[in-house]
Amino acid sequence: MPVVDVLFTATDLVQANGAVVVIIDVLRASSTIVTALQNGCQAVIPVGSISEAQKEAARRENVLLAGERNAIKPEHFHLGNSPLEFTPEAVQGKKVVLTTTNGTRALKSVENACTVIIGSFLNARAVARFLEREERDVLLYCAGSDGRFALEDTLCAAEILRQLKPFSLADGARWTLQGAKSYLDFSAPDKEFQIFKAVSRSRHALRLINLGFEEDVAYCARLNQMDIVPLLKDGKLIK
Ligand code: MLT
Repeated sequence: MPVVDVLFTATDLVQANGAVVVIIDVLRASSTIVTALQNGCQAVIPVGSISEAQKEAARRENVLLAGERNAIKPEHFHLGNSPLEFTPEAVQGKKVVLTTTNGTRALKSVENACTVIIGSFLNARAVARFLEREERDVLLYCAGSDGRFALEDTLCAAEILRQLKPFSLADGARWTLQGAKSYLDFSAPDKEFQIFKAVSRSRHALRLINLGFEEDVAYCARLNQMDIVPLLKDGKLIK
């Protein structure tokens, strides 16, 4: 039976050992990538730094520069990292070069893994179905926040785990499911509201709310809104 495990923060290099890697950065990179592709963006190209993003965008046509530093849009970028900015009007038919603090760092650290996908609350069910079809080991890779544990990412990992069957749970996965139970009753009819409440109290959510991004927090806590699974192929995330 395939094994599923959880990593709790972004690190420099992750040995995937053939596992499918799911990058989870609920606030907000994963939710932004899923939304952009859902709304007709051709591809999201993740890059590590602002200068790399500018170079990458200069080499391409029909491209938007997007991302954040300290959650704020860098100067001269077209879009920040708010999923609500990635409307069909803004991104349809375009490529997006994206640089974020933790999300793209996690993505860059597994560039050589054979299958890398993006997970969020928005597409949790679609991710679980994808993983079941793959029938391979899985690493749920929470991007965390500046090297620290992030509650919202781990709760999202728990939601994906809960929907996965049949998988054998490694230590990190067992802990995640057990820990999440103190925040969520997975079978409650108001589970989505419980997710919203828990996510809203997380460290990064409070920071985003202070900066005026409360609508982003509510949006990123919505469950199973989209059936797409962004897949990393030749350095680009595609639908
Ligand atoms: C990140 O990748 O660090 C986050 O997505 C930050 C943010 O909320 O914009």
